[in-house]
Amino acid sequence: MSLLLDALRCHNLQRPPVWLMRQAGRILPAYQSLRKQYSLDELFQNSELAAQITTLPIDALGVDAAILFTDIMVIAKALGLNVQFVEGKGPVVDPLLTCANDVKKLRQIPVHEALETVQHTITLLKKELKVPLIGFCGGPFTVASYLILHQKWYASEPLVFHQLLTKITHASIDYLNMQIEAGVDAVQIFDSWANALTLPEFSQFALPYLKQIVDALKPTKIPVIVFCRDSSLRAQELVSIGPDGISFDWHQEMHILRKAVPPSIAVQGNIDPEILKAPLSTIKTAVEKLLGPMKNDPGFIVNLGHGVLPDTPLDHVHYFINLIKEYQ
Ligand code: CP3
Repeated sequence: MSLLLDALRCHNLQRPPVWLMRQAGRILPAYQSLRKQYSLDELFQNSELAAQITTLPIDALGVDAAILFTDIMVIAKALGLNVQFVEGKGPVVDPLLTCANDVKKLRQIPVHEALETVQHTITLLKKELKVPLIGFCGGPFTVASYLILHQKWYASEPLVFHQLLTKITHASIDYLNMQIEAGVDAVQIFDSWANALTLPEFSQFALPYLKQIVDALKPTKIPVIVFCRDSSLRAQELVSIGPDGISFDWHQEMHILRKAVPPSIAVQGNIDPEILKAPLSTIKTAVEKLLGPMKNDPGFIVNLGHGVLPDTPLDHVHYFINLIKEYQ
């Protein structure tokens, strides 16, 4: 067993595990130098390189889990769409969906065909990794927001938008099942943009689809963590769909959030990523504030409240991870 998997089952009796969202890309010099040689598209499409990047933070930072190096938007390929990762911009889907007919025309391509590279990357990783491997997908609402031209489409044509969300959800379930069959030990759903929705909209356009994914994966017994921006404002709703873990942002203290989450659901987070850019003394104070009331919680995973920021000094990240590992 491992600290991460024990914590996700809410029975970790040792120190809390620590990993960082976006730990595989962004901050490591070895990643930066690979980025000088290869485009992002090339890195995502090459299993050997993707596996190598996935393992970089394990050796360089000493984190307790690996997260697969790929992107939430590769799922577009399983919907028959063309996605490219444009320098400095992120994922670009072309052409974007603009009308009911575009949604109707979407045909799912089997994930084993469209996303075979990811399957192969996991197979390679499972041969060598000594820590658990986290697979992932995007939340259907977040994925949809990269596929469409008008961000408020859900307001003008809710039924069409629900059809789109349903198609993305089916592809996401197949995709996560494929990752699980290939060997991932846990999965996280990144519904990053769900904070663009009001609470009633969130309950209509984000939550039911997250629940469908969570429910569909129950038989696999692989733990599922859900993440969205502003999750601390949506704790009750996220609890209601029964995931194994909830990843929280930093707008509320973790020990207070903990009281809103039943002890059978793990909590993850929730250091403000900006803290890691601050002086070491500030990092230390933040860690003490987090771990003081939380360190003996059997279902607690240390992470940031969102991804590690690109220009975070590496020695600060090291310092942070070591503080967690040595905290008494
Ligand atoms: O640790 C890791 O980096 C693991 C792999 C990973 C990537 N994307 C690789 C990536 C993960 C978990 C993601 C998730 C992702 N992708 C999210 C959800 C998490 C979050 O941060 O909110 C979202 C919204 C995306 C979409 C996306 N992909 C954007 C907006 C961008 C551009 C800006 C950015 O975030 O870097 C990407 C490109 C992307 N995905 C990079 C990497 C390493 C680019 C980095 C580079 O230019 O080298």
